[in-house]
Amino acid sequence: MSTAATPTWDPAQYLRHAGHRARPFADLLAHVPDLPAERPRIADLGCGPGNVTALLAERWPTAHITGYDNSAEMLDKAHVEHEGPTAGGGRLDFAPADVRTWTTGEPHDLIVSNATLQWVPGHTDRFADWITALRPGGTFAFQVPGNFAAPSHRLMRDLAPRHGLADVLRHDDAVLDPGDYLARLADLGCAADVWETTYVHLLTGEDPVLDWVKGTGLRPVLTALADDPERREAFLDEYRTALREAYPAGAHGTPFPFRRIFAVARREA
Ligand SMILES: C[S@@+](CC[C@H](N)C(=O)[O-])C[C@H]1O[C@@H](n2cnc3c(N)ncnc32)[C@H](O)[C@@H]1O
Repeated sequence: MSTAATPTWDPAQYLRHAGHRARPFADLLAHVPDLPAERPRIADLGCGPGNVTALLAERWPTAHITGYDNSAEMLDKAHVEHEGPTAGGGRLDFAPADVRTWTTGEPHDLIVSNATLQWVPGHTDRFADWITALRPGGTFAFQVPGNFAAPSHRLMRDLAPRHGLADVLRHDDAVLDPGDYLARLADLGCAADVWETTYVHLLTGEDPVLDWVKGTGLRPVLTALADDPERREAFLDEYRTALREAYPAGAHGTPFPFRRIFAVARREA
């Protein structure tokens, strides 16, 4: 029996769908209002390989932006590809941190987190600290997947116990409903804007949904079976077959519906 451990990440696999994955971040940023400071201080919690963190520097070129992550693999990629001064005289850097405990004594103008908080059980308990860390008029903004009941995730959860992986995957309550996020952020005194969108990504190539989840949701399974190629292939064979049935290829590619939940909370000025 394998149990949950911190998954290892593979930046190259994750970035194979970088275009599709970056779109929700752009949609999130489009709803973030102007920031209070002329040279804003920004934190990106769970920055991954840093490619979306770099988009923050395009919107706020004078900002000092720090991306935090607890994956050495992701941080290595971010350091090499994106760290340094930015075009407007700002700076982009990256540092190790665990989102479960990250806090700062420095006033921030924006704390953002994209596609990460679903990995952090009890993440709403951290909201009060993060909002307290904002300058008045500053914003906390995040996006999480809301697709835990979708076949991609349900099928892997159903298969896991039969492969001795019962405790490896999180259940279907990794995120809250949009209305619950709204209530929590409003209770903390924020002007909150919460919404959801279902993208229909049109994926190409063979078994593209499997290829997608190998970069994200399947990481705990791949980590648990990293030293057992036979069991790994047995799991993947069964999962691949089920995914082909759930997401058949069409004339133009494989449509992959993906629900996401967004929240933008502004601390009153
Ligand atoms: C799906 S990736 C998202 C990366 C990036 N934000 C993006 O949008 O492309 C999730 C990231 O969260 C990080 N992560 C998960 N749990 C974490 C924790 N407790 N502390 C810090 N980072 C964490 C992972 O290492 C991974 O890089």
